[in-house]
Amino acid sequence: MNQAELHRYLASKSLKKKGAPQYKTLFDQRLSTNISLIKTQFFSLYQESKHETTFFKLLDKLELLFKERPTALKKQDIDRLTKGNWYQSEKMVGMQLYVDRFNTDINGLKEKLSYFEDFGINFLHLMPITTRPSGESDGGYAVNSYHEIDSKYGTKEDFLTFTKEARKKDMFLMLDFVVNHTSDEFEWANKAKAGNTKYQDYYYTYSNRHIPDEFEKSLPEIFPQSAPGNFTYNEEMEKWVMTCFNTYQWDLNYKNPEVFIEMMGNLMSLANLGVDVIRFDALAFLWKKLGTISQNLPEAHTLISLFRMCLQVIAPGVILLAEAIVAPRNIIKYFGENMFEGNECEVAYNASLMALLWNSIATKNASLMLKSLTEIPSKPNDTTWINYIRCHDDIGLGYDDDFVRSMGWDPHAHKQFILSYYTGKLEWSPAKGLMFMYNPKNGDGRITGSAASLLGLETALEQKNKNIIDYAIAKIIMMHGIILSYGGIPMIYAGDEIGTLNDYTYEQNEDHVNDNRWVNRPMQNWNVVATLSKAKDSPSAIIHQSLKKMIGIRKEHTVFEDLNDVKIYGCPNPHIFVYQRSNGNKNIWILSNFNEITETLDIGWLLSLGIHAGENSIDLLTGESFELIHNELPLKPFQQLWLMNN
Ligand code: GLC
Repeated sequence: MNQAELHRYLASKSLKKKGAPQYKTLFDQRLSTNISLIKTQFFSLYQESKHETTFFKLLDKLELLFKERPTALKKQDIDRLTKGNWYQSEKMVGMQLYVDRFNTDINGLKEKLSYFEDFGINFLHLMPITTRPSGESDGGYAVNSYHEIDSKYGTKEDFLTFTKEARKKDMFLMLDFVVNHTSDEFEWANKAKAGNTKYQDYYYTYSNRHIPDEFEKSLPEIFPQSAPGNFTYNEEMEKWVMTCFNTYQWDLNYKNPEVFIEMMGNLMSLANLGVDVIRFDALAFLWKKLGTISQNLPEAHTLISLFRMCLQVIAPGVILLAEAIVAPRNIIKYFGENMFEGNECEVAYNASLMALLWNSIATKNASLMLKSLTEIPSKPNDTTWINYIRCHDDIGLGYDDDFVRSMGWDPHAHKQFILSYYTGKLEWSPAKGLMFMYNPKNGDGRITGSAASLLGLETALEQKNKNIIDYAIAKIIMMHGIILSYGGIPMIYAGDEIGTLNDYTYEQNEDHVNDNRWVNRPMQNWNVVATLSKAKDSPSAIIHQSLKKMIGIRKEHTVFEDLNDVKIYGCPNPHIFVYQRSNGNKNIWILSNFNEITETLDIGWLLSLGIHAGENSIDLLTGESFELIHNELPLKPFQQLWLMNN
């Protein structure tokens, strides 16, 4: 049993008591529920004999942070505990966006609440909006503050008004907690630069290259082209500081318990803005150890669980998303294992599904996806995925080498093929993407590009080829159909709902030119949105209508609630990906053809899954029963069916 279950039970008991909630009692009750875990975790990271006082300081801090939580949010926390897991509901459909690129600023975003409502979005991931250095800031992932809103987005009042408005419309919000690093202008970094050793110890700082050189022997490089190495020399401080990402992003030193305590405060300052889901950015990197790659270390898991156990005491209605874009077997661990099972993050990005979808498009074959997804252990109860095809970052090709080999492919050669397919190196490929951070030392690289361009729409429009345009549209719809029907919260990247192509203007921006992820961070094109109802046959309109329809269907059927029920079938046709969603005696089967020719499935096999073939079954996407041809079900190129028995 995980801690969330205990908190739900206790909340249901206290609700039976009459009168207004006694917050102090509530806090004491929650703290006593979690305290033994908090203590174990804290002292497994920080030596008990040295840090006893710091532990009591943490407990005092939790009480203070609870007092500071606004009453409306405290009430919401209680409400959430009693209402079950809202984040697993079929009603959840998300969109990720940059506030300024979407519609100027926070007030502009507020004006577009009806756009989301109309399309069916009830969950927003807003990219960083707090203060950051002028010039390069990794899109705001170099933070100058965890709670001060950057003036280019508006004011804190604007944001609080927005969150209130959003809550009234039952809209959930997610913001980033950049937990691994701050900018080099953050107040602690400034104090460190001024020579304050207390704050130098908040980061990994060294007066010579001895330890940095030792670290470099095993640390991989995240941005080998634009920010090679993992340490940056700071002249003011006359020290080397660890910077795993960009040179201006200083890694926080969680070996110092003061850092954890202060970051707990920063986490709450973000949560108190009215945020429902906190995206733990780059959390795989939280603990560094010499001689390791310093990713996914057991101590990082302990630390994350410690954050969660403390957050649960103060704000149990707020949940955590793991941004761990790592190997499939490692991602699942962020839900918590063993004594932490269900006590780490409630939500994680399904980066494996995402990367495998792109593999299936390039190979026109779903076998690697089938093999990989069926081998991943199932996630704990009370957790869910964020399913997505694109986000603001590059696409990493995180496939398991053993699975790639089991397909008869050489992992290195296969990676080179996928990179070539998406970055214009194969004449026959319709994909139009860019190579990101190619590392000639090991042949590693990632891919950037908008979903529509990667799926061939840009090339097809250039060639004015109706056939290829239709294929690209079908692929865009099919890929979204998967994230909308797979177990978890679908997260659509703003612009993808209207088939937005690559945006090459980043090349003219000196702050973006070294980071081609900006090719997929376009301005929302409201002119296109304005034409959707008139130019009904345009690619944008077809994509928009189809996605909207699928969202509507998802919300109507409780089978799409995430009950850990996805059942993937070993399909006899390797081009077709088949899975089933169930809830009680209700079932829906999703069939997707990744090939550019028609593929078929034998009626006998369909019957063995429970699909009543022919007239007795309908495709929810068209509302029609499907036709069998010579006892076979045909799926057109990139066609998807959502089948339900009548
Ligand atoms: C996450 C963000 C990415 C950023 C990195 C460093 O991976 O998604 O955009 O560059 O963290 O903060």
